[in-house]
Amino acid sequence: MAAQFAAAGVLTGLLALATFASCNTEGDILYKQRLAWKDPNNVLKSWDQTLANPCTWFHVTCNNNNSVVRVDLGNAGISGPLLSDLGELENLQYIELYGNRLNGSIPETLGNLTNLISLDLWVNLLTGPIPSTLGSISTLRYLRLYQNNLTGPIPSSFGNLTNLRELKLQENSLSGAIPASLGNVKTLQFLELNGNMLTGTVPLEVLSLVIVGNLTELNIARNNLDGTVTSSGLRGTDVIVNPSFDSVCDYPGYAEDCMMA
Ligand SMILES: *[C@@H]1O[C@H](CO)[C@@H](O)[C@H](O)[C@H]1NC(C)=O
Ligand SMILES: *[C@@H]1O[C@H](CO)[C@@H](O)[C@H](O)[C@H]1NC(C)=O
Ligand SMILES: *[C@@H]1O[C@H](CO)[C@@H](O)[C@H](O)[C@H]1NC(C)=O
Ligand SMILES: *[C@@H]1O[C@H](CO)[C@@H](O)[C@H](O)[C@H]1NC(C)=O
Ligand SMILES: *[C@@H]1O[C@H](CO)[C@@H](O)[C@H](O)[C@H]1NC(C)=O
Ligand SMILES: *[C@@H]1O[C@H](CO)[C@@H](O)[C@H](O)[C@H]1NC(C)=O
Repeated sequence: MAAQFAAAGVLTGLLALATFASCNTEGDILYKQRLAWKDPNNVLKSWDQTLANPCTWFHVTCNNNNSVVRVDLGNAGISGPLLSDLGELENLQYIELYGNRLNGSIPETLGNLTNLISLDLWVNLLTGPIPSTLGSISTLRYLRLYQNNLTGPIPSSFGNLTNLRELKLQENSLSGAIPASLGNVKTLQFLELNGNMLTGTVPLEVLSLVIVGNLTELNIARNNLDGTVTSSGLRGTDVIVNPSFDSVCDYPGYAEDCMMA
């Protein structure tokens, strides 16, 4: 009798474990990320792996289906890497991890987050390239990676981000040309590329967003761009910020506009 109860108990325990394992994948991923981070301010104290899901943890928000939609850890004092497992939090909409000391590279797997609206990794210590996979997140509205030490090119796949409003990549070590494909992003309002090592010219496709799109700020200052824009007649050029020219009238191609004004 006692043995039967014991056996039943073990079986129930095993079933519970199996259920736990299958239902708390998202919690497991975040807990693994917790272990990989240094957390001197103990902001992750509530991230308890034994709970049924991570939905009651501080800095984590779930939808009605107990699936994680937000991680809010801006200015939280955490340091360490971003785990590639984060790309499995399939309902994630907001990654707010700005103002920390995150280092290492941005995982390519984040391109699998097809519901992501905002990727805020600004002001960290991230290195390596910007994954071109991020170009497949068609829901993305805010991509702010400024003030890290990212290298390599701006992925041309970003031309597929047709809901993007803010692309802020300033103060990194990005090189190569500004992709003309960015001209496809008619929703773009802020394009900040200042303080990198970009070369070549500003593509007309991108400049034209001032007219055919909603671009209200384009900052390309402090790069290695050669500044030859071979067109005239563009209006709204005051949005272009380039301290190497005293005013927009000094920008090659715009003198005619200034004379008319
Ligand atoms: C809720 O989550 C389950 C398990 O992940 C999934 O199969 C289902 O499609 C989700 N439902 C909604 C409405 O997201
Ligand atoms: C991140 O910083 C930690 C602590 O300074 C260091 O041990 C680790 O090597 C760094 N990782 C990378 C990829 O730079
Ligand atoms: C996620 O993305 C990576 C790299 O982009 C890919 O290799 C992997 O198969 C993807 N995983 C899933 C579950 O889709
Ligand atoms: C993005 O657009 C380019 C063409 O500009 C295309 O070749 C590519 O397959 C698209 N998708 C991704 C994820 O880059
Ligand atoms: C950024 O990375 C580049 C290339 O790896 C390196 O030369 C440079 O010193 C780094 N800058 C900072 C501020 O860490
Ligand atoms: C430009 O902005 C206006 C007002 O916010 C908006 O209605 C319109 O859809 C935007 N156009 C594009 C191409 O994003």
